[in-house]
Amino acid sequence: MGLFITFEGIEGCGKTTQMKLLAKDLEEKGRTPVMTREPGGCPIADQIRNLLLDAANSRMVPLAELFLYSAARAQHVSEVITPALAAGKIVLCDRFTDATIAYQGHGRQLDLLLIEQLNLLATTLVRPQLTILLDCPVEVGLGRAMARISSTTGAKEERFEQESVLFHNRVRNGYLQLATAAPDRFIIINGDGNIKEVHAAIASAVLPRLAGGAGSCRSPIL
Ligand code: TMP
Repeated sequence: MGLFITFEGIEGCGKTTQMKLLAKDLEEKGRTPVMTREPGGCPIADQIRNLLLDAANSRMVPLAELFLYSAARAQHVSEVITPALAAGKIVLCDRFTDATIAYQGHGRQLDLLLIEQLNLLATTLVRPQLTILLDCPVEVGLGRAMARISSTTGAKEERFEQESVLFHNRVRNGYLQLATAAPDRFIIINGDGNIKEVHAAIASAVLPRLAGGAGSCRSPIL
């Protein structure tokens, strides 16, 4: 059985960059991690991602949004994550179920129990053993996200960046609540530092846990 590690945090927290750096460390140790992301990670889920993040879809109602995230996840888990874990791979995933609790639950204020049930259904109980939460102030994260968007030439995924600071603060607090409730699974890293410092903090928190092999963490399938 493989090892499932997720990266979470508000917009612009730096998780995508940090996931790639951790993947490089793992490759240097002779592992071949599978890097993936949500929403997306496979062709059908990528099409759902386009719908979800297109700023032209600002009329999408929160419940439709929730169902689309769940639909994308069901496809991604079945097509990518479960087979990779079954093949003994380390899977690094940029966002997963915690994002739905933080964004649709705390951000949009949809019913948390409903979201938990949908998460269970969509994941067929596949769970990360480790979640890196990159925490930083909303103003810092949004500043970085906006700079990235304005330098992007392709499709602009900016629907969430257009939400209020209040919304993003609810998301941040939602993540921190999740981390407090599951301290064995979460590692909170200060994402406010420079890329090198944050990477060093992640590597020193994660790599020693891998030394004992995947068996040193709980099974991803409960
Ligand atoms: P990204 O910009 O980190 O790739 O994430 C895409 C956006 O999707 C981001 O604004 C957070 C949002 N999101 C949710 O609202 N719910 C979810 O379940 C996931 C996976 C992402």
